[in-house]
Amino acid sequence: MAEASGAARIERLLAAMTPAERIGQLVMLTGDMAVTGPGIAEDAVGRVRRGEAGAILNVWGYARTRALQRVAVEESRLRIPLLFGFDAIHGHRTILPAPIAEAGAFDPGLWQRTAALTGAEAARDGIAWSFAPMLDIARDLRWGRMVEGPGEDPWLAAQFARAKVEGLQSAGIAATAKHFVGYGASRAGRDYAQSELSPRSLEEVHLPPFRAAVEAGVLSVMPAFTEIDGVPLTAHRVLLGDVLRGRWGFAGVIVSDYTAIDELIAHGVAADHAEAAALALAAGVDIDMVGRSYALGLAEALARGLVTEAMIEASVRRVLTLKDRLGLLDDPYRFGVPGGAVPDAASRALARDAARRSIVLLSHRLPVLPLDPPPASLALLGPLAASAADLLGPWAGDGRPDEAVSLAEGIARVFDATEIRTAPGVPDETALDAALRFAQDAEAIVLALGESREMSGEAASRARPGLPADQERLARAVLALERPVVVLLVAGRPLTVPWLFERAAAVLALWHPGSEGGHAVADVLAGRWNPSARLAVSWPHDVGQAPISYDERPGGRPFAPGNRYTSRYLDLPNAPQFPFGHGLSYSRFELGAPVPERRRVRAGERLAVTVPVENHGPRAGETKVFLFSRDPVASVSRPLLELRAVERVALAAGARATVRFELAIDRLGFIGSDGVFRVEPGEIRLYAGPSADRSLLREAVIEIVA
Ligand code: GLC
Repeated sequence: MAEASGAARIERLLAAMTPAERIGQLVMLTGDMAVTGPGIAEDAVGRVRRGEAGAILNVWGYARTRALQRVAVEESRLRIPLLFGFDAIHGHRTILPAPIAEAGAFDPGLWQRTAALTGAEAARDGIAWSFAPMLDIARDLRWGRMVEGPGEDPWLAAQFARAKVEGLQSAGIAATAKHFVGYGASRAGRDYAQSELSPRSLEEVHLPPFRAAVEAGVLSVMPAFTEIDGVPLTAHRVLLGDVLRGRWGFAGVIVSDYTAIDELIAHGVAADHAEAAALALAAGVDIDMVGRSYALGLAEALARGLVTEAMIEASVRRVLTLKDRLGLLDDPYRFGVPGGAVPDAASRALARDAARRSIVLLSHRLPVLPLDPPPASLALLGPLAASAADLLGPWAGDGRPDEAVSLAEGIARVFDATEIRTAPGVPDETALDAALRFAQDAEAIVLALGESREMSGEAASRARPGLPADQERLARAVLALERPVVVLLVAGRPLTVPWLFERAAAVLALWHPGSEGGHAVADVLAGRWNPSARLAVSWPHDVGQAPISYDERPGGRPFAPGNRYTSRYLDLPNAPQFPFGHGLSYSRFELGAPVPERRRVRAGERLAVTVPVENHGPRAGETKVFLFSRDPVASVSRPLLELRAVERVALAAGARATVRFELAIDRLGFIGSDGVFRVEPGEIRLYAGPSADRSLLREAVIEIVA
């Protein structure tokens, strides 16, 4: 019979451990099936056998995980099972749209379902722990990791966090809220650089999605590589200790991001591994991922009196509790099935639906879409046309390009009566000439352009986030034919291509749509899906506008046309190319003004707000209704807009509906200049509209009374 599980067994294990075995439980090695950072563990098997490691990342599959688990369980002295971790972020084997794309569906039910699929596939491959969701608020398109997260808005990111944690953990694996916190504010959009964040931007912008993850029961948290105001997150006793564990009561495991503990030496806050280990352990970091500081420095730190046995024991207890919570102490072989995870009809159907719901119709200058009736011939040009790998995007788990559907394949299947000719059109004149010949002969022209999967994600910041030069040359040459051109943009970030929006007939943002991207794009082009996704980030005209977000505060001289001495550029507008929440449809939706059920409200109350919506056709479709608020006069300057809720509504052509929001008045509060949260009496303006474009918002006024 299995020993009594829970705390008693954990205490018995703790008591039986040698100091070296305790330290071993705080060490995570990396395997070599994926490379997600510098360095690969040598002698992983020996270290597991000697009880010098308690977890491994980047190893998956029934056979490999079982073989290593057997060493831990049958050959080590205390037989403590290993934790296998992996970055199953937007899919494990069936790849879903990149988070920046899926966030644009504004659909918590979808996010939960795709996370549950990801967790189930990972578990079938022996993974007990996914390092997801990534919850970094990102407002600077130069930062390559924007692709991995839910965009610029804290409310949207918090909804995303809840759904992803619930979905992943519903599959019986542990989720990880990462990278705690403020990584997306990395200076100048350069990865691993410093962040300068005010207490207010921490509290109101960057912390909310992590708090939502903790409230949803996330089992682990990963600190960011970066530092805020000179304090590396991996050693941040205030944010990890006082806020995460203290104020929020997080009792789970904190795992370093890769070699971040060792990197405290590079940060210049530790002289050696012992000091680095002491700083991280004191901040509450339980597991050293891939680094050497815990393995080489923790015993030394103990000997120097920099840490105590009790501190080490507290971390080991949390790690053993996680293993017990995942059922590993009862059944070390519970994860992993022979054959592992293979995409099937159900997973592909979900991936196709998620991808369709994540594609944004950015511009539709000429009425060319949908391509219905289908054209007799179609030229599909550009380097992204035939690439299935690039549709998977970065951090694509064990996604396999040969199991993914390229744009060319998907379009050929859906437009099965259309003569389709595909050409890359790059890198040289010969390729360009061939592409132009195809374009001249075809009835419809589609350009597939953008970023390869290596051009975003970690360590992939871009100072000039436009199209690669050879793709720009192809696009300009095709546009010079003066024929209607539909452009498909594959990318992990907005691309600054204003000239393309000015001249293309239509542009769709595909982001990285995943395994079923080709089918999903074809469904949208054919009108089988009326595009419904919106932007989860502002789309700048130019990198010079970065960082940019809709929730800026007015300042003392807000922009005023014609007035030089106001906040403006000499050479660009302030407004983005497309605002947060932007996305067109094949139908015309009309939103009315918000109607609050009463004008006077009090702290602690809830207020119903309704918004009429009508679909003027020509076809059924789904739109989103955004509810913002603004506090025009308060004890501190408040943002011009704050997102309070978004409702999706599907309507047949000609149909109308009334969307109902339930607004908790306390959500209209904020942290005063004294650091104390408050709900202040006074006027509040409510806005309803299709995006954060203030010119399209309809207003209602309520009043908070004492
Ligand atoms: C990487 C990433 C992190 C990931 C980890 C393990 O450096 O920053 O997001 O979970 O290493 O692959």
